[in-house]
Amino acid sequence: MNVLVIKSSPHLSGTSNTITDKFIKGAIDAGHSVETYDIARGNLHPCLGCDRCGMNWLCVQKDDGNYVLDKIIKCDCLVLVTPVYYFGVSAQLKMLIDRFYARNGEITAKHLKVVYIAAAWNDDNIVMEAISKHFDILTSYLKMNEIGRILAKGAGTPSMIKKHYLDEAYELGNNLK
Ligand SMILES: Cc1cc2nc3c(=O)[nH]c(=O)nc-3n(C[C@H](O)[C@H](O)[C@H](O)COP(=O)(O)O)c2cc1C
Repeated sequence: MNVLVIKSSPHLSGTSNTITDKFIKGAIDAGHSVETYDIARGNLHPCLGCDRCGMNWLCVQKDDGNYVLDKIIKCDCLVLVTPVYYFGVSAQLKMLIDRFYARNGEITAKHLKVVYIAAAWNDDNIVMEAISKHFDILTSYLKMNEIGRILAKGAGTPSMIKKHYLDEAYELGNNLK
């Protein structure tokens, strides 16, 4: 399976990327091929809302947008990774999600497999509520099939990450079908 991992944290070796690296190791150990695009280190800009794509064509912006969208259309499983910022996804990830607009029809038609990985500092009950709902609605709207999600609470720094999240991430990657 071709797995496309989209990272979105400014912390190169931060919590969401550390958990994701376990997922990637699991996937590679199971024989999958994994490609990664890191929005925080890429060249991506917000959707202009110009509608010249008509929701089904190339974006007019000359950045990584069309390249990443092409990778998304071609992958078998999309992995969206984010730190939790004010109860939602990072601005970096939201920027890419908004750019889905240019290929909305194609993405929807693919019934993509999707995995979500998010990490937050807090460990309370509400910290993942809004982001979970967003993932649910995104999955449903884009007609994707969710394979699983890791929502790591109390994971403000890599040393705070509870081992079970790392184990679950490895297992999720290792059991991709
Ligand atoms: C702008 C900003 C907003 C944040 N908002 C939240 C939040 O709503 N809830 C929370 O628990 N942590 C919040 N945090 C902390 C991060 O989610 C947390 O440190 C996370 O582990 C960072 O992941 P990373 O190392 O992958 O970037 C915020 C951090 C920043 C910089």
